[in-house]
Amino acid sequence: MKSNILSIVPVAVAVLLCNGIMGQTVVPQLGKNSIAEVVAAMTLEEKAAIVIGGGRDAKPSVLTDGTMIGSSDFRIPGGAGVTNAIPRLGIPAMVLVDGPAGVRMNVKRKNDDHLYFATAFPSGTTLASTWNTELVQRVGEAFGNEVKEFGADIILAPGVNIHRNPLGGRNFEYYSEDPVITGNIAAAIITGLQSNGIGTSIKHFVANNQETSRSDINAVMDERTLREIYLRGFEIAVKKAKPWTVMSSYNLLDGVHTSERKDLLTTILRDEWKFEGYVMTDWGGKAVNLPDQMNAGNDMIMPGSAAQISRIVLAVKKDSISEQVLNRNVERILRIVVQSPSFLQYKYNNAPDMKAHARISREAAAEGAVLLENKKGVLPLADKYKSIALLGNTSYAIIAGGMGSGDVNRAYTVSLAKGLTNAGYVLNKELEERYRPYVSDYKNRPLELAMSDSLLAAAALGNDIALLTIGRNSGETKDRSLDSNYYLRPSELELIKRTATAFHKRGKKLVVVLNLCGVTDTRSWTQYADAVLLAWQPGQEGGDAIADVLSGKVNPSGKLATTFPQRYADVSSSGNFPGTPAGYPTEVKHEEGIYVGYRYHDAFKVDPAYAFGYGLSYTSFRISPLKLNSSIIKDKIIVSAVVTNTGKVAGKEVLQLYVTAPAGGVRKPVQELRAFAKTKLLQPGEAQEINLELDMRALASFNTGRHAWIADKGKYIFKAGTSSRNIVQSATATLEQEVIVEQVHSLLFRQSVAVIVPPGKR
Ligand code: BGC
Repeated sequence: MKSNILSIVPVAVAVLLCNGIMGQTVVPQLGKNSIAEVVAAMTLEEKAAIVIGGGRDAKPSVLTDGTMIGSSDFRIPGGAGVTNAIPRLGIPAMVLVDGPAGVRMNVKRKNDDHLYFATAFPSGTTLASTWNTELVQRVGEAFGNEVKEFGADIILAPGVNIHRNPLGGRNFEYYSEDPVITGNIAAAIITGLQSNGIGTSIKHFVANNQETSRSDINAVMDERTLREIYLRGFEIAVKKAKPWTVMSSYNLLDGVHTSERKDLLTTILRDEWKFEGYVMTDWGGKAVNLPDQMNAGNDMIMPGSAAQISRIVLAVKKDSISEQVLNRNVERILRIVVQSPSFLQYKYNNAPDMKAHARISREAAAEGAVLLENKKGVLPLADKYKSIALLGNTSYAIIAGGMGSGDVNRAYTVSLAKGLTNAGYVLNKELEERYRPYVSDYKNRPLELAMSDSLLAAAALGNDIALLTIGRNSGETKDRSLDSNYYLRPSELELIKRTATAFHKRGKKLVVVLNLCGVTDTRSWTQYADAVLLAWQPGQEGGDAIADVLSGKVNPSGKLATTFPQRYADVSSSGNFPGTPAGYPTEVKHEEGIYVGYRYHDAFKVDPAYAFGYGLSYTSFRISPLKLNSSIIKDKIIVSAVVTNTGKVAGKEVLQLYVTAPAGGVRKPVQELRAFAKTKLLQPGEAQEINLELDMRALASFNTGRHAWIADKGKYIFKAGTSSRNIVQSATATLEQEVIVEQVHSLLFRQSVAVIVPPGKR
């Protein structure tokens, strides 16, 4: 290995030996001596080098005193960044890689013929749609194995911001509109990833729900909204899974960049949630006040530069950062360093088991697919439909994942055409011959290939069924456009209508597959489709996974973790996205408050196109009446139900538990998802009992005036639903006395921003 970082080691060792021989104090070594002793032996410059990252493009260089600065080319070209090594103290560099769907790195390396590919797992939204924490944990285990075997220490994932608005450009990386599903899915993937002995960086903390003006946008919201909606997913994941690091976000929260907010990074994250790792900034964030960041508890600045190291040194000399604060931040970082594969000198092999990981990627993609429509049981295709007229650009060029740091360089991507062929279906040759050259030119892909009526008529005559894919992509730095991305383009609507006409004329069906980065309009066209399967962005195995579900090899069990509205104006933030002033917005008011997603649709009786929690199956289930362990709530309550497969094929069902809390000190949502669990694969007739335990915190709301999570006294209704709009069982229990579940700090967040008026009616 050619890196200067390693070539310095012999020098450091020589210095060490020399010190020993001369009878001077031996320099403390990380791992052998305590962290406090190592910090005590550090120069100010060395401490500054630890809290500043090794630079994105910086060439490794040696500071005057021999300290090394690393670079992101170190060990994994194309990695996101490195931390600085100080060989004289036995502190190695750590390597940080993106991102939530797989290890992001360059395929090619200098003087190396090997091609470095990683597994592209399904997008975050797809994983959340599985509602299966056990499966997501296994994805994390496989994914984390790649992080470790490619030589990295920390993966910059998961992304757990909230789907506040469907136009959010990075929604594909995030999980849901709901904090409980977000937090539990995040906890599962963190647990899986970190079980490998590598670290995660849960991001972007907090309220980074849009890409427009992402470094300058000021998210303005009241404290209850912040705590109940935007922080809650982080809170659940931090408490349950203990991520090694947290990444602060680019945006401002109520006037101050999150990386400079002590109330957020210290009071809430550490004092209230007991987070013990370290906080790093997002890459090159705009917050320029290093002392404020250091004092707030934003321990590390990424990607870092030599100039920032000098500024830290100067700030300490000028007393705007106390050496105590610097020591504290350095110690937090070193406590993570000592757990890292780099420190433990793990011998990574660059050869993870890609076949096994591909299988898990495929399983998760199939389980995250949501069946939205299945009129007259047209699906599964099974053997009923053997020859397929496959239409739509993305049937031939599937969108595996989104763009930006969450993209993954994979060895291959299975298209839907390939997946269907692998599954034994026969595709219309003429269509295939037209699509293949067309989609191979990337520029064409956003424009749907036009089909003549005669071609469609011939396909309807010659094939058993039509299958048409609509695809959408988005990525970092840009939100989706309403007209050309959220809504279908005229050419797409045309193709759907004309295909439906041609096939329906012959008594044949049209199945639409949605290959989406995020929620997209369905109302303008679903009446033409006989079945609709939402495959999201399914990762590299997408085509095989979708074919698994279409064919019936896998029974769909995915459920929406985000509402599909009837129209964009029905999104509660539609009047406040991406903020004001127009052009380059700098402020986004969360006037909808906690009424995000189904909380809004329920409260204001706005019917969605497809409700939160919705998803069809090829079988049917019965959920038994709910049993509560007690009709009086003490310190927790256990809700039990038996789920029985009443249909003809094996399948999985999700028990979604919504709770309606009694009126009390604050206005309550109609109901909120408070717990969920997925059954195992149930054979026809098979039943499984599910027990969901809710503690008092799961019943509480945040009362801003009283600075507390409070469970109000009164009647709690526990509801099991197959979606937020289809409650099938309910039971009630009483809390006899109000419980102050958790008293939190009194912070200077706003008391009120929410207007709580349906945006359409303003
Ligand atoms: C993104 C982060 C990412 C980082 C490093 C930033 O632009 O917002 O999510 O981890 O870059 O690549």
